[in-house]
Amino acid sequence: GLPSRVTICEVGPRDGLQNESAVLPVEVKAEFVERLVDAGHTVVETTSFVHPKWVPQLADAAQLLERLATVDGVRYPVLVPNERGLDRALALGVRDIAIFGSATESFARRNLNRTVDESLEMFAPVVDRARGAGLGVRGYLSMAFGDPWEREVPLARVVDVADRLMALGLTELSLGDTIGVATPGRVVALLDALVDRGIPINRIAVHFHDTYGQALANTLAALRRGVTTVDASAGGLGGCPYAESATGNLATEDLLWQLHGLGIDTGVDLGKLVETSVWMAQQLGRPSPSRTVTALTPG
Ligand code: HMG
Ligand code: MG
Repeated sequence: GLPSRVTICEVGPRDGLQNESAVLPVEVKAEFVERLVDAGHTVVETTSFVHPKWVPQLADAAQLLERLATVDGVRYPVLVPNERGLDRALALGVRDIAIFGSATESFARRNLNRTVDESLEMFAPVVDRARGAGLGVRGYLSMAFGDPWEREVPLARVVDVADRLMALGLTELSLGDTIGVATPGRVVALLDALVDRGIPINRIAVHFHDTYGQALANTLAALRRGVTTVDASAGGLGGCPYAESATGNLATEDLLWQLHGLGIDTGVDLGKLVETSVWMAQQLGRPSPSRTVTALTPG
């Protein structure tokens, strides 16, 4: 069966904008987040407290959060790789964070300057302190379906790192198809293996990229397997600056077209979101790659 309701984790402001060569003014970013909330989003991943030299596009994280009003029922998670990032986030009153691990050594090295073991050691005190302060802590597991340097990533390897991440005390695990190579059979096989390992399906989110046009098929397979949290990026913005060929995230509008067509409630207004993505495309000077945005934009 399918769920009657799905929670969308909107990652456009973070995963989308981190990959744009243009750095947008903080006022534009704040308006973007406000528009996403106005469209009905309840989880908006806003920015990252990483080293500003690594992701200059998000160097204004503090200024952005200072501009965002608290809205009842709306969460603004931020990426935090280490204790330095956590300190910066806590100083601003952040209530939800996400750490970001990798299933492969190649990506751990390029994204975190660490081995997989070292990155887990780096995350441990972050998760401990954040959970102790009552924060929600999501953990990403990147390259969960394939890696541009190592190609195939063995299922057992992915399950092992997922298990070690969950053991840190995460409230949610998001499976990242960072380069968009997943197909539905592998999605179901991985979810089955994670559930067999004791990770509850209601703690698992999926994060698909649409490189090979499989993101919606993969999403549907995950929903049938019991997943109810799906990551998506307004207008299909983004990718990852440290992963070769990581093209766009699943576009939130394309996801909404599917979910609403299936009678699944998301609380998000498709029309308002399309308007937001058209506006963002103007800011960035290029059209949205989303099929649904294109179909619903007159002219
Ligand atoms: P490092 O160079 O090993 O850092 O980078 P370090 O721990 O050696 O520290 C070096 C200096 O950086 C120190 O300053 C620290 O204070 C400073 P110094 O003493 O030399 O003056 N520093 C920081 N400053 C501000 N904020 C911080 C911070 N940490 C250290 N948080 C580090 C290690 C993790 C910091 C670096 O590799 C980094 O920032 N990486 C982030 C990369 C990133 O954001 N990637 C994109 C997100 S992942 C993704 O997009 C995939 C995802 O979407 C899911 C999917 O699709 O798969 C999530
Ligand atoms: Mg991503």
